[in-house]
Amino acid sequence: MSQKPVDQLSEDEARAELAALAKAIAAADIAYHQNDAPEITDADYDALRQRNAALEEAFPELVRTDSPSGAVGAAPVEGFAKVRHGVPMLSLSNAFSDEDVTDFVARAKKFFMADTLRDPDFKLEFTAEPKIDGLSASLRYENGVFVKGATRGDGSVGEDITENLKTIGDIPHRLKGSGWPAVIEIRGEVYMTHAEFKRLKDHSAKFGGQDYVNPRNTAAGSLRQKNPEITASRNLNFFAYAWGIAEDAEGNPQPPAATQHEIVQKFGDWGFVTNPLMIRTESADELLAHYRMIETQRATLGYDIDGVVYKLDRLDLQARWGFVARAPRWAIAHKFPAEQATTILTGIDIQVGRTGALTPVARLQPVTVGGVVVENATLHNEDYIKGIGNNGEPIRNGVDLRVGDTVIVQRAGDVIPQIVDVVLDKRPADAQPYVFPHICPACGSEAVRELNEKTGKLDSVRRCTGELICPAQAVENLKHFVARDAMDIDGLGDKQVTQFYAEGRIVRPADIFTLRARDERSMKKLKDVEGFGATSVKKLFDAIDARREPELDRFIYALGIRHVGETTGALLAKEFGSIENFRAVALAAAQHEDGHSVFPQIGGIGETVRSSIMAFFANERNVQALDDLLVEVKPKPYVVTISADSVVAGKTVVFTGALEKMTRSEAKAMAERLGAKVAGSVSAKTDILVAGPGAGSKLKTAEQHGVEVISEDEWFERVGR
Ligand code: IVH
Repeated sequence: MSQKPVDQLSEDEARAELAALAKAIAAADIAYHQNDAPEITDADYDALRQRNAALEEAFPELVRTDSPSGAVGAAPVEGFAKVRHGVPMLSLSNAFSDEDVTDFVARAKKFFMADTLRDPDFKLEFTAEPKIDGLSASLRYENGVFVKGATRGDGSVGEDITENLKTIGDIPHRLKGSGWPAVIEIRGEVYMTHAEFKRLKDHSAKFGGQDYVNPRNTAAGSLRQKNPEITASRNLNFFAYAWGIAEDAEGNPQPPAATQHEIVQKFGDWGFVTNPLMIRTESADELLAHYRMIETQRATLGYDIDGVVYKLDRLDLQARWGFVARAPRWAIAHKFPAEQATTILTGIDIQVGRTGALTPVARLQPVTVGGVVVENATLHNEDYIKGIGNNGEPIRNGVDLRVGDTVIVQRAGDVIPQIVDVVLDKRPADAQPYVFPHICPACGSEAVRELNEKTGKLDSVRRCTGELICPAQAVENLKHFVARDAMDIDGLGDKQVTQFYAEGRIVRPADIFTLRARDERSMKKLKDVEGFGATSVKKLFDAIDARREPELDRFIYALGIRHVGETTGALLAKEFGSIENFRAVALAAAQHEDGHSVFPQIGGIGETVRSSIMAFFANERNVQALDDLLVEVKPKPYVVTISADSVVAGKTVVFTGALEKMTRSEAKAMAERLGAKVAGSVSAKTDILVAGPGAGSKLKTAEQHGVEVISEDEWFERVGR
């Protein structure tokens, strides 16, 4: 950046500098917003922008079409495509004590007692290996070639991060050796070594960048990059330890070996890195001895681990022992004790959320817990501060928390830090019991604990009754309204909403849509506000106008009615078809003495949600806010288009195998919108089977019945999406 005063620049110099500034600011925006890796300090960034603004003011005719003043940061990282795992990615049950581990082994012995009695040589062996503290990934290989890699996601559907995974040196693009199944999902942990973490931290300290919290989060941030080059620059590693689908060319199951131990050895043969600290043994004592051994090595391994995983070795026995909910019975994670530190509780702040919940937050004298500086801890609710848990039982031996107390803070894995204990000996003599506010700190309205009608108990959460007059709730509501999964207004994020609310430009959702008109008449135009410019303001107004006809389901969700999430929003949209209809029925129910008899029964919507909808419409201010909003916004009617020209109307469709472009529920909703009937199993009545990779028995049945089979891509072609 030139030091020359703006008024001494020639036109040519100004033009050249504006070009350089546009480039530098764009690069900084990408580094900051898309890559989570700022390359310059905030102060330097601001200086660039200020210089740019000064130049543009002095030389208005030189303002570039790609002027940085027109952009409010770089576009956020867009969603990754979804990938359905061929076999769900499970989690593990935990063991926290030696006894939990001996119990696990005893349970196995009991379950397989008959085998032991029948066969004196029957061996019940277990493997033990470190539990890597990273992120799990699933890598799909077809005929030995890496074709798709995904995050765990919710266990059934993850995100497609293939290109990023390809940059990891430990992940082979082609399997080595031979004997691998035609299709196999290799699973394992992506992690960052301590050395690499330190390198990044040092670099960012030198050049001014973001604060990396710990290797795990940094690895996660590095993997969920839109730009694989950034991932590549981060040097991540991968340990292979499990697998999902494993099939031969005909789609029949083909486990690569008979035991856990051998399979992991095969992973090594195929070119993966496997953890060297894996053992196999029959004895619980040896499992525990291995745990202790790993624990002593923990600090010098060079990467984070958070426990030891024990798995039953034989796959046939695993299959027989089976699963509970989302975890196998045949494996268990023996966790290391959580990391703790002692510090002082310096204050308790109350945060007010969108639904008015008053959440206490502990302010702590900063302390390092397991390598992370902790300054805040969640306190959940007022009972928690008093030493009463959710079920009414005492926690911390019933000891309350007071400002000034010396407390033990614990951080376990991803969990928000908790205060687990109070050192009573150190309590200052003048420490006072904490008095939880009964009025909202943001608006002064009364804050109450509602009676839960079902349990007859007081709700553990105290809520502000101010609703729309409460600035904290209003701002949180606005943030929710404009959010990506709701109205999705580009350029109107948390920061802008907070600022506009503070300036009184936007107080209620309807104000968003009158902003342009009001700004035109206003003396204090938005384009003159710091951080904005003519172009960025125009862009924002255009983005707002572009959302004047939102989809009905999103619109209902955006209203922020308590307990109405995206799924419920969609159910309501489908049921009522139009906002007018929904409003009329909900309002009538709210005004009726027995609203539940008026409001229709809708599958998937229970009493809590119905009560909550009625409570929303019983409040005149909410109805007024909605009506004002509807003057500006016209949600599209939700049409179940059984379009005559839809080629799948009236047909019975079955989806099977891994769908890659949509989730199963999206696929179903889409087919139904197009007038098709979606069935769960294939029969002679089925018209079309949409089969993704990994399709098994349904595909065979379809072929037997001569049912037409198409791929996911062909499905999209056919329905014209
Ligand atoms: S086995 C069906 N082995 O722990 C069992 N998991 O709490 C599948 N993890 O999501 C998991 N190291 O991300 C297994 N050696 C290891 C592991 C491991 C880390 C993670 C994995 C999983 C989580 C479950």
